[in-house]
Amino acid sequence: MSLDIRHNVDLTSSNTLGLQSKARHFIEVRSADTIPEVVAYAKSLDLPTLWLGGGSNLVLSNEIPAVVAKLLIAGVDQRELDLHHSLIKVGAGENWHDFVRWSIQQGLFGLENLALIPGTVGAAPVQNIGAYGVEVARSIETVYVYDTQLGCFSHLSASDCEFGYRDSVFKRQPGRYVITHVSFRLDRAFSPNLSYAPLADVFAGIESVSAFDLFTAVCDIRNAKLPNPKELANAGSFFKNPLVSEPKYQQLSVIYPDIPAYPAPTGRKLAAGWLIEQAGLKGLVQGPVGVHRNQALVLVNYGGASRTDIEALAQLVKGEVMQRFGVELEQEPIPYP
Ligand code: EPU
Repeated sequence: MSLDIRHNVDLTSSNTLGLQSKARHFIEVRSADTIPEVVAYAKSLDLPTLWLGGGSNLVLSNEIPAVVAKLLIAGVDQRELDLHHSLIKVGAGENWHDFVRWSIQQGLFGLENLALIPGTVGAAPVQNIGAYGVEVARSIETVYVYDTQLGCFSHLSASDCEFGYRDSVFKRQPGRYVITHVSFRLDRAFSPNLSYAPLADVFAGIESVSAFDLFTAVCDIRNAKLPNPKELANAGSFFKNPLVSEPKYQQLSVIYPDIPAYPAPTGRKLAAGWLIEQAGLKGLVQGPVGVHRNQALVLVNYGGASRTDIEALAQLVKGEVMQRFGVELEQEPIPYP
């Protein structure tokens, strides 16, 4: 197989933040078999490879000194696991939201709360996407990879993936694994997860909730709060919700009695959006970028921004939150390089 290599390719529409960026070398990967060839090509140039999915969790610089390989591996393969579950193996390049909708149409459940999350199936395990009371980790059976360190195809079980809040082995060992497929263990019987309070409110007093009702409600909540990257460039949450110690939380809650906080394995998780809003930054516009007016943990690009613009805004937000609350915010999208 010979690679179709393009040069000086504009990546502005290949990252949902819409940052101006250019790839010196660019290859579309439609089959996993091509991956070793891409690795060999990058090695021959003495360059690293940037494996690009939907580009929804990246902060790209103007020039990418790497071989950029866009993963477009398609396909959905379904087989019954037992009476109650099916196993669905999905190509990394499939669109996440389309897959969620398809699963519900097939009568396969567990992903409804994760509707409308931008990006590809292959990106879902990387940051263990989570929303409205559900993390994707609980539905993942196996992640199929090319291990660039060992130079072979391999697979990881859910426990090998070491999933945590917006975290996984793929995030902790960046560049090592190229995800080719993900298999999901989905339920054949529907049981709604209404643990997120605003979702429970939508269905208060309603006895029977269908998977499609839940899917629609999640889409409505997202559409009301979060900007659609196709209309206003963004990478979803720009910061993780910060974990603080119990004494730190107690100290803050004396000054701010209504501070939202969630239980965490150690200490408490605070809401980054709340902290940013209280710091007076919600809706702030700084040059071509800004803090979204409806959800303060989302930074947006109004057009023409570069990495420098978004990073300057991120620094300002982090600085204000640190000064006001003594809490450190951690950036979620990964800077490259
Ligand atoms: N809040 C504010 N102001 C804001 C935003 C939030 O005061 O501008 C408050 C809310 O009123 C609420 C609390 O903060 O009391 C939490 O807000 P929300 O329920 O909207 O969720 P979040 O913690 O801000 C997380 C995820 C989202 C996910 C939602 C719903 C992170 C970093 N983000 O946001 O994920 O959709 O929960 O489950 O954990 C994404 O990944 O791109 C994303 C949007």
